[in-house]
Amino acid sequence: MSKVSSYEGWAIITGASSGIGLELAKQIAEEGIHCVLVARSEDKLIALAEEIEEEYEVATLVLALDLATEEGIDALLDGVDDLDISMIVNNAGFGDGGAFHTRDPERIAEMIKLNCLAPALITRSLLPYLLERENGAIITVASILALVPCPLEATYAATKAFDLSFSEGLAGELKGTGIDVLALCPALTETGFLEAEGMDEDRIQHIYRKAVPAATIATMALDALGKCTVIGPRDFKLLSFGRRLLPGKMINALTAVMSKNLLEID
Ligand SMILES: NC(=O)c1ccc[n+]([C@@H]2O[C@H](COP(=O)([O-])OP(=O)(O)OC[C@H]3O[C@@H](n4cnc5c(N)ncnc54)[C@H](OP(=O)(O)O)[C@@H]3O)[C@@H](O)[C@H]2O)c1
Repeated sequence: MSKVSSYEGWAIITGASSGIGLELAKQIAEEGIHCVLVARSEDKLIALAEEIEEEYEVATLVLALDLATEEGIDALLDGVDDLDISMIVNNAGFGDGGAFHTRDPERIAEMIKLNCLAPALITRSLLPYLLERENGAIITVASILALVPCPLEATYAATKAFDLSFSEGLAGELKGTGIDVLALCPALTETGFLEAEGMDEDRIQHIYRKAVPAATIATMALDALGKCTVIGPRDFKLLSFGRRLLPGKMINALTAVMSKNLLEID
């Protein structure tokens, strides 16, 4: 049974237009929490807002903005200024697989800003209010790749290591304050993630045969609130265990094979 309804008030869900964020928004709304839906795609956010308002009788606020920019982060914070925010879901993120020397420098910077800077600044700005409230939750979506460096996804894995470390640090700091802190570390999940990386549709369908549905990952996260500080599917526990047993060189060789297969690079 999830604690979500006990937080009351409003949740901010970044990256709510698709995938894990969309499913988290639906399941949070189902618990009676009002939702601030954030992403760039306004049409998708409006469609989701209409759906959850009708289905779960909650209020919504749509904020269509780019969280890889300082203006986007400021607009989000201005937009929620007078709301009783109880939950922050730092979920928006993307990857950009391929040899590092071939990656677009602007895209690298955008990824670091969206995946790392936005969660840190949004949380920093709203945390004093949550502390006053003495009740709430902060979920940061990291990844199974937060555990290990990953050839061909070097920047992405590093941003996710940041997310995991950031969330675990906060969890220690906020113990006993009434704020539940959780790092969610999904493995392969069926979302818009690979399409956003620019992968072709046939390849995506092939890879997603083994993927977990986004709704399952969202349920796993919400059920874990208040019970633990890091959660992931079975592969996460295996990798977490393996990382402690295997030498770094072997882990690197394994993740290199994994990403070469995923990206179809020889
Ligand atoms: N899918 C997986 O296998 C997997 C595994 C591990 C971790 N994750 C993590 O899960 C999180 C959610 O990803 P997903 O898999 O659900 O992928 P997704 O379906 O592509 O969703 C990504 C979300 O982020 C939003 N977003 C992207 N760039 C943005 C920007 N500049 N400003 C604001 N919003 C932006 C997207 O909306 P717009 O395009 O409308 O802006 C979308 O709502 C990410 O942090 C990802 O790293 C995913």
